[in-house]
Amino acid sequence: MTGRVDFRHEPVLGPRAIELLAPTGEGLYVDGTVGGGGHARLLLERCPDCRLLAVDRDPEALEAARAALAGYAPRVRFLQARFDEVGDDREVRSDGIAGALLDLGVSSHQIDRDHRGFTFRAQAPLDMRMTPEGASAADLLNDAPVDELARVFREYGEERRARALAREVVRRRATAPLRVSDDLVAAIVRVLGPGVAAQDKARIFQALRIAVNGELEALERALPALRNALRDGGVLVVISYHSLEDRLVKHSFREWSRACVCPPELPVCGCRGRALGRSLTRKPERPSAGEVANNPRARSALLRAWRKAA
Ligand SMILES: C[S@@+](CC[C@H](N)C(=O)[O-])C[C@H]1O[C@@H](n2cnc3c(N)ncnc32)[C@H](O)[C@@H]1O
Repeated sequence: MTGRVDFRHEPVLGPRAIELLAPTGEGLYVDGTVGGGGHARLLLERCPDCRLLAVDRDPEALEAARAALAGYAPRVRFLQARFDEVGDDREVRSDGIAGALLDLGVSSHQIDRDHRGFTFRAQAPLDMRMTPEGASAADLLNDAPVDELARVFREYGEERRARALAREVVRRRATAPLRVSDDLVAAIVRVLGPGVAAQDKARIFQALRIAVNGELEALERALPALRNALRDGGVLVVISYHSLEDRLVKHSFREWSRACVCPPELPVCGCRGRALGRSLTRKPERPSAGEVANNPRARSALLRAWRKAA
């Protein structure tokens, strides 16, 4: 990579996310997916004394966020980490946080840069890693057993022909390893037919990306970790782009909002009897038609927010 990174990103549901976070005072907030810094900038502008821990697992993203947020330098600390590791940060552990935001998935910048391999544009490498370490999409496609590939396509991609696609990948890799997007697209076309829609290809590529980055596992660990780190009255906002992510968020927020967590067979309530907090969004909130027209990548966004009891 050369030069300054242009990572401009229209923050999805930005004003609403910040309204729900309602940053005030000198509180410490966490943007666990700082990306191009769009939401972070809105937060820092809205609250002139708030501090921000700006987190991203992708070093390129963090570099971009540093540039985008340079004007707020004394109030921002940057951390290259996964958002499920934020609870280990010394300041977070000692002081707690006033609020946290997760805007899941990948940024426009990551998708737009062919060398990162998040795209099915011709000849893009099958990479998809958000960090330089670990197995790439090509490694997964070339090494995983057929059952594992079928699971990824079915569970993360909701692909009806998951097993047939997995078998086709295995058949092709016996001759030559899959290296670039075209290799996977050819397998998809073979199984789903030549008229396969771009959104179906995108769904299958997204399934691989979720597997490569362990995205659901990270979210599953992060939700309770961030909840524990929140100070009383603190708010957690999550914007997800996939039904599996949203389901995890919905179930967690619902569970944490229940007053009684005793198993139903217990005759008398033996638990704390007090909800840990409450959801601020009854249903997931979606971007307006106008926002989607301006920023098509916002179209699948679902926002949920939860406030820890004061
Ligand atoms: C949709 S973008 C965020 C855009 C950002 N809200 C903005 O306004 O510019 C998602 C970002 O989260 C990062 N990311 C995804 N999963 C992560 C994880 N588990 N831990 C930390 N960062 C993650 C990605 O690298 C990407 O930069």
